[in-house]
Amino acid sequence: MDAEQALALLRWQIAIGADEAIEPVAPDRTRPAPLPETPDNRAAPARAAPVRPMAAGTSTAPGGAAVLPLRRPPVPGAPGLSSAEVAAAAASLEELAAAMAGFEGCALRQTATNLVFADGNPEARVMLIGEAPGADEDRLGKPFVGVSGRLLDRMLAAIGLGRNSAYITNILPWRPPGNRKPTAAEIAMCMPFVRRHVELVAPEILVFVGGTSASAMLDRSEGIMRLRGRWFQYRTEQSSKTIDAISIFHPAFLLRSPGQKREAWRDLMMIRERLVTPN
Ligand code: URA
Repeated sequence: MDAEQALALLRWQIAIGADEAIEPVAPDRTRPAPLPETPDNRAAPARAAPVRPMAAGTSTAPGGAAVLPLRRPPVPGAPGLSSAEVAAAAASLEELAAAMAGFEGCALRQTATNLVFADGNPEARVMLIGEAPGADEDRLGKPFVGVSGRLLDRMLAAIGLGRNSAYITNILPWRPPGNRKPTAAEIAMCMPFVRRHVELVAPEILVFVGGTSASAMLDRSEGIMRLRGRWFQYRTEQSSKTIDAISIFHPAFLLRSPGQKREAWRDLMMIRERLVTPN
């Protein structure tokens, strides 16, 4: 195997999440596995485990397994509150970001490196909502900064928008391990956060990027092929005001299916039209 192949293999392992810690307690594979309990060994006295020096920063769990420090110290939060209660209590974007950072009810937080809250200008007329952070976003703590983010930037530039004139977030603020699709339960848990996020930003136009975002935000079962290219009225929970909302293809899909770029262009033109035509 040459260096290129080894590197490709390593990248693939990272992409499927092989570097993600999934247990807070690291199993000690240097100790013999416990024997299955039988009438013969049930009463046997426990053998003392050999005492081995531990790396700095580790401690011992009951049973002697080394406990690796979590990736970050526990953050203050309000244990037991639902995402809906936590989101509703946030009165500003700063409070919402802090509340989400402290929210411990979503397991994705344990495997993610960073909370990916948002990027761009919260005063912008247009707010985009994608699906979930990928590896680059997780590393940098910003949405759409990887390959599909670069295509999204070009799509926005085509209608005169940039990161200073748009605001971008995701349905999920934590990366699902290995970039897998978010589960329905994860989406449901994070919806109160993104809905509150929309209320606090109060944009003129909402753009749902990809089918996951479109069907979750519009609460519709149709796929992106049916939802794209149409204006909907998005209603926030706390106000009777509605927001013009449109769905577009996800740039990752466009990278795989360049034949759909013509339709994507049409959708972008609809947004441009709405921006230049006062209601
Ligand atoms: N895809 C998304 O939906 N969001 C990101 O932030 C990155 C990729």
